[in-house]
Amino acid sequence: MIPNPLRDPRDRRLPRVPEPCALVVFGITGDLARKKLLPAVYDLANRGLLPTNFALLGFARRDWGDQDFAELAREAARNAARTPWREEVWERLAGSVRFVQGAFDDDNAFDELAAALGDLESSHGIGGNAAFYLSIPPAMFPVVLKQMERTGMAESTRDRWRRVVVEKPFGTDLASSRELNELVDSVFSADDVFRIDHYLGKETVQNLMALRFANELFEPVWNGHHVDSVQITMAEDVGIGGRAGFYEKTGAARDVLQNHLLQLLALTAMEEPVEFSADEIRTEKLKVLRAVSLPEDLRRFAVRGQYEQGWLAGQRAKGYRQEDGVAEDSATETYAAVRLGVETRRWAGVPFYLRTGKRLPRRVTEIALVFKRAPHLPFADTDTEELGNNQLVVRVQPDEGVTLKFGSKVPGSVMEVRDVSMDFLYGEQFTETSPEAYERLLLDVLLGDATLFPRNAEVEASWAVIDPLEEFWAGSTPEPYRAGEWGPRAADEMLAAEGRRWRRP
Ligand code: BG6
Repeated sequence: MIPNPLRDPRDRRLPRVPEPCALVVFGITGDLARKKLLPAVYDLANRGLLPTNFALLGFARRDWGDQDFAELAREAARNAARTPWREEVWERLAGSVRFVQGAFDDDNAFDELAAALGDLESSHGIGGNAAFYLSIPPAMFPVVLKQMERTGMAESTRDRWRRVVVEKPFGTDLASSRELNELVDSVFSADDVFRIDHYLGKETVQNLMALRFANELFEPVWNGHHVDSVQITMAEDVGIGGRAGFYEKTGAARDVLQNHLLQLLALTAMEEPVEFSADEIRTEKLKVLRAVSLPEDLRRFAVRGQYEQGWLAGQRAKGYRQEDGVAEDSATETYAAVRLGVETRRWAGVPFYLRTGKRLPRRVTEIALVFKRAPHLPFADTDTEELGNNQLVVRVQPDEGVTLKFGSKVPGSVMEVRDVSMDFLYGEQFTETSPEAYERLLLDVLLGDATLFPRNAEVEASWAVIDPLEEFWAGSTPEPYRAGEWGPRAADEMLAAEGRRWRRP
């Protein structure tokens, strides 16, 4: 490609469009593909962010032709697209949609897939570039990777790139994640592996870095001298839906704490990267994850819960054990909370309280820095009764934005200080709506930009935090909480023991 002499290649404001390429999705009939990936492909096309020479290939067991697949893809995209529906955009995409039918252990099917890629090279000018998205259970990875190796599909050369996208969970503990990493690395080179943690694709999560490193205001107080504690919450009002098979084996700690919450912690606690590049950012995150410590007394500072029947938004909600496919005596946790430390000069002594749960009162994800109280208050105690700790809250979702909570004088003839909030709302400040996480991440895979994808070492360091927790919990029964409550009582006691309380988001 001839570079544009008028354009600074470092300027990231102009949208970048990937080189001609194909996206191959294994497990195209699954939930993730229908709800997230296909709509994201459409949205990217609609925003003009896909190359003109682009092809979408689906691989699955179903006995389908290209036409059946094109219809499923259209329905899925139409139902969940973020941007307005434009038939002409879809028509253009549909012209380069292919389906290959087969089982993962079927050599013929993979030969056919390799041939289809070859054909698309000449018919659609995709230049041999392809990204393979493994939207399949991890148990299937070995056989699919071996097939890609056998057919030579995994090989990047000077003239073409081949990349693989791996969805979480990356293993179930440190040992299995190492095995998985070794397996993936034996087939693809490290730079061509993209591990998805979709929280990193969220606009508000990326904004954490802008907030911290583009401003002078926050960084001086972003440390243990001023911060009393940090609370990271990811609450969901939904239950487990139809995912019992997956969830029974996984539980909240492996499903969310190990990845999303530890990544949010890493971005909150990391030092400034030397530059805004994939390597430097990932290096800083890894340092934090390695510095995470578990409390000595896990009995007091780690809590797991399971929802029982209750009420949510005026509707009766089943208990976890009554959900379809869940064992009557299931000991899987649907709620997990833990107090972690970050053993660095900046954070030593500051507790990081992390919690996640299903069937909590509402869907909300936030990171709250709770500041220390002012060392001295020159007011009478009665004047400041309604004054709490200052807080800076990054609202990841919904109501994306940032809130600053501080004390202010109540109007009137006496001195009374009470908490007030100052809000920044994305919806009010920007006209453009935020892209979906998968839109951003898919685009980055095709562009080869790994900034928002965790590295092997990060995944392994995260498992090193979770393994002792899982060992401690093995064989125990989670604490019950009613659907529609903010988790088990033990989680409140965990904070109360140190004179703190959970924020009510
Ligand atoms: C997934 C978990 O990673 O994240 C699900 O497996 C969870 O259990 C989901 O529901 C939540 O994602 P989001 O983007 O809706 O917060």
